[in-house]
Amino acid sequence: MRPKLESSTAFTHQSGSARDSVGSATNRIQRPKNFPPGPPPVPIFGNLFHFNIKNPLKDFVKFAKQYGNVYSLFIGTKPAVILTGLTAIREALVNKAADFSGRPNNLIKDITEGKGIIIADYGLQWKEHRRFALMTLRNFGLGKQSMENRILGELEHLVAKLDKYAGSSLYPQTLFHDAASNIIYLVLFGIRYNYGDEILKVYVRLYTENTKLANGTWAMIYDALPILRSLPLPFKKAFDNYKTLKTLTLKMVNKHRETRVPGKPRDFVDCYLDELDKRDNGSTFSEDQLIVYIMNLHVAGTDTTSNTLLTAILYLMAHPDIQSLNFVLYLSFTLHLKSGY
Ligand code: HEM
Repeated sequence: MRPKLESSTAFTHQSGSARDSVGSATNRIQRPKNFPPGPPPVPIFGNLFHFNIKNPLKDFVKFAKQYGNVYSLFIGTKPAVILTGLTAIREALVNKAADFSGRPNNLIKDITEGKGIIIADYGLQWKEHRRFALMTLRNFGLGKQSMENRILGELEHLVAKLDKYAGSSLYPQTLFHDAASNIIYLVLFGIRYNYGDEILKVYVRLYTENTKLANGTWAMIYDALPILRSLPLPFKKAFDNYKTLKTLTLKMVNKHRETRVPGKPRDFVDCYLDELDKRDNGSTFSEDQLIVYIMNLHVAGTDTTSNTLLTAILYLMAHPDIQSLNFVLYLSFTLHLKSGY
């Protein structure tokens, strides 16, 4: 089951019947008969003027008081059902998880064409790729000592780099992304890059740009107003970045193939290529899937981890008292380990 509960308010995915009722952008937007109630939408913009786009939570709570814990809104022409409170969220996303595990039709889904795992709809492709990832990552050490060793090995490089800057300042943004990228690359391809390597710089820049675009106002405009999708607006950049990332990843896979021995996998990519050899053409496994899969694991494992570390560093900078406390804890932990007690 996908991990879904992220806040006390949740959107469920787009309903086909509701979408069918929308018609062309100039038509009146109408709720289908069995759709949950909600504020009346206006043409094209739906309910976009009825809540604060940047921080909608207060308005969502207000609507829940008026329409109940399960109500609907139109984000532009896109219908959405809003669940409020633990009971409604648990009912939909836990008790009826399979029914609600689809993915919304949004910018990211269009860019990835629904391939890979993260934005894949609930179905055979997602199930098989999720199972394969869990099994292969386990074999290559996730949750085992060897993964810990990989992380500790990368941390030695990271600490050496930080030591170089002792007493001066450094910009940590790309450094943590580089370190997290290397850990994922060790699992995927068995390789690591030196910090500041051009390849890492390009990957981190393109992934970071796309994550920002996907979470920003332009993605919301893309999702809400399909009529604008073909215009040369800033969301087009996300498609261009993705194309470059795909080309780079395909090059890496082809280079990796040159040294591959079928049946003797060295890493995640080799395992997938072995699996591909075993399967026929109708399978959910394909080279195109592999490319998106690699990119999914890279971005999911890198941006999340490095932003978590950056947030921790920011807190330490803002609270020097905790910083020195951490140092004391670190010191006592190290002494504790060294003394064997
Ligand atoms: C601080 C670190 C991390 C955070 C906060 C985080 C957060 C999340 C969240 C919230 C989801 C659920 C998204 C959804 O279903 O809507 C998710 C899914 C996922 N994450 Fe992470 N993640 C982290 C680290 C990682 C790492 C290190 C990897 C891989 C190497 C990873 C790979 C994935 C994948 C593949 C999915 C999709 C799972 C599926 O569809 O079943 N994540 N992550």
